[in-house]
Amino acid sequence: MQIQHLKLNNFRNYDNLLLTFSPNINILYGDNGSGKTNIVEAIFSLAVTKSFRTNNDKLLIKQGEEKEIIKGKFLENVKQNYELNISNEGKKAYINGNLQKKLSDYISKLSIVVFSPDDLKIIKDSPAIRRKFLNVDLSLLDSNYLNYLAYYNKLLKQRNAYLKTIAINGNSSYDYLDILTEKLIDYGLKIKNFRIKFFKEINREISNLYNKISGIDSLNLLYISQYENFSKDELKKIYKKNLSKDLLIGKTCIGIHHDDFIFQTSFGNLKDYGSEGQQKNAIIAYKLAEISLFKLIKGYYPILILDDLFSELDENKIKNIYSLLVGNMQIFITTTNIMFISSEIKEKSKVFKIISGKVEEEN
Ligand SMILES: Nc1ncnc2c1ncn2[C@@H]1O[C@H](COP(=O)(O)OP(=O)(O)OP(=O)(O)O)[C@@H](O)[C@H]1O
Ligand SMILES: [Mg+2]
Repeated sequence: MQIQHLKLNNFRNYDNLLLTFSPNINILYGDNGSGKTNIVEAIFSLAVTKSFRTNNDKLLIKQGEEKEIIKGKFLENVKQNYELNISNEGKKAYINGNLQKKLSDYISKLSIVVFSPDDLKIIKDSPAIRRKFLNVDLSLLDSNYLNYLAYYNKLLKQRNAYLKTIAINGNSSYDYLDILTEKLIDYGLKIKNFRIKFFKEINREISNLYNKISGIDSLNLLYISQYENFSKDELKKIYKKNLSKDLLIGKTCIGIHHDDFIFQTSFGNLKDYGSEGQQKNAIIAYKLAEISLFKLIKGYYPILILDDLFSELDENKIKNIYSLLVGNMQIFITTTNIMFISSEIKEKSKVFKIISGKVEEEN
């Protein structure tokens, strides 16, 4: 998949911008704060309908303006014009001018993988952050996933609200709670199955990739779910057993909303034992494994964004990573220092120089 043109209107520090990209490598370079990440953020937001660095859509709107528009032409067999409008009233997504009612369909049509410095959070931060990354990836891979997740979250909210109602008003009906619990389990199991399959596929590749990047050791992602291997009936009993606790705190203690995963090497969880460099390598291996998975499921490679990756790695690692990237992928590289990029790569690339929000094509 590739994006041919990108048009921005009031996005971050850009008033109006129109760029035409290379189907191969695109290098964006410029000083800190010039607007490099903003451009790749716009591409990602157009594909995923939200940014990879904030949950607050309003931050994407140029300060002092009320609405931003991102337009782009994506290619994969047929040309499709995508458009995302974000305003104070919310967001709207269009394909070829047609308003998309279901964002899940829109999102799953595009595929994109991003590596940003923030991604180390996947290893370091809380399970909630890992679930967020996982949910974005799975939504891009299958439109059903996001629909199931939205339904699960709605049921969870209803169940939590009803737990509070029962706690206040003791004689409420438990039948309704049972219905909500059963539906929650149904959708939870569907989501769990997606996640199991995802990790199985990632694990097919990740160890080999990690080994090639780091030169040592192996890596495995371990999926952790309270649902374990329990059947629906067993889960119903578990929810019953936890009911008094649920009522006490007014929340559902058990469910796939507590799922997590860990990066495991032969010496343990990378979160606890991994050096900064090992963690970085693990994330790169994870992203590369994801690229293979996109190709396997969708039949084509995703767009790859490498935001500020090269300033953080030594030359050997950079070479290893390049050798693992496939030739026919569209790649966006941002860097403060064009010297980080070898002349061999530069020759194959379209180079954009950015100075305080002004973009110049160099070749
Ligand atoms: N909503 C907004 N409206 C106007 N300007 C914004 C908005 N959000 C961010 N900016 C500006 O965009 C610039 C940051 O752009 P960006 O993050 O793309 O920089 P960068 O080139 O990637 O820098 P670095 O090399 O430090 O990563 C800053 O100058 C910031 O003030
Ligand atoms: Mg940046």
